[in-house]
Amino acid sequence: MKAVAKAHTNIALIKYWGKRNDELILPMNNSLSLTLDHFYTTTEVQFDEALQTDTFIFNGETASDSESAKISSYLDRIRQFAGVQMYAAVRSVNHVPTSAGFASSASGFAALAAASTKALGLDLDRKTLSILARQGSGSACRSVFGGFAEWEKGSRTDGSDSYAVPIMSKTEWDVRVLSVLLESNEKPISSRKGMKRTVETSPFYSGWLEAVDHELKEIKTAIRTKDFERLGKVAEANALKMHATMLGSHPPFTYWQSSTMAVMEEVQHLRDKGIQAYYTIDAGPNVKILCLPEDEQKIRDELENLEMVKGIYGCRPGPGIEYKEKL
Ligand code: DP6
Repeated sequence: MKAVAKAHTNIALIKYWGKRNDELILPMNNSLSLTLDHFYTTTEVQFDEALQTDTFIFNGETASDSESAKISSYLDRIRQFAGVQMYAAVRSVNHVPTSAGFASSASGFAALAAASTKALGLDLDRKTLSILARQGSGSACRSVFGGFAEWEKGSRTDGSDSYAVPIMSKTEWDVRVLSVLLESNEKPISSRKGMKRTVETSPFYSGWLEAVDHELKEIKTAIRTKDFERLGKVAEANALKMHATMLGSHPPFTYWQSSTMAVMEEVQHLRDKGIQAYYTIDAGPNVKILCLPEDEQKIRDELENLEMVKGIYGCRPGPGIEYKEKL
């Protein structure tokens, strides 16, 4: 009753920001992402009748009580789904540069959903896996697939039509993402709390929802026609809109720091010089730069001159969930 699965993180180019159901993690809008090859989580799950409780080892160490409680309550969902009552021993290794602040719940819950169901002998299709991963962390449902994937928000109250679908495989278009490490401090507010406050209090939230359908159409056309400029422009505009909603919240907040804005400005300078570079930013200060392979080195050279840049991690399109023999 043991299985190991590996899942990669993903970066949203059209963001998921806001839930219509907190418990089932159902989003207000569709989102679209690129799965990345560089950052991933490998998780081993072993169910055992003899265990008296769930145990969770994270990067070789016993997880904190709050982390363990989160995993256990997620495993309750899996147990309910599978109709079993056994506890599990979970070991997870996060292959994200230590303290890089890129740690993502997406790869974690995608790997956990895959390993736990496989350990219970279930042979699930990707759609069902995506639905289960979603219930751990929304963005995790997209990490089930490699390359570009879209999370369809669905409309049913039970979430049975809210899952990701593949848009383009990782081998079809080599778009690069440079993850620029600026800060590794804790976020001022988690994305879960941040999006909730935004939905409940920001007068700009309706504007976000109004714009997103057109942006999705635009980015899907850009992907289909491999039009990088079109892709970059819409991804950047979408990220800016998401961050704008937060400034209108009560109380207001932002994930940006002065270093975040310095890198945003640098990307604009690169474009002024004719280099195709666009940025996107999640619920944190770090910036991800989208580019094509031929421009990657030039962009690295420019960024390395900036004092606030603490690291640059180059990513290519990555694969979806993979099952492994061992951790
Ligand atoms: C800004 O998926 O981490 O990265 O569903 O509450 O676990 P929960 O949130 P999470 O939020 C991700 C927000 C984002 C945008 C995105 O990845 O689409």
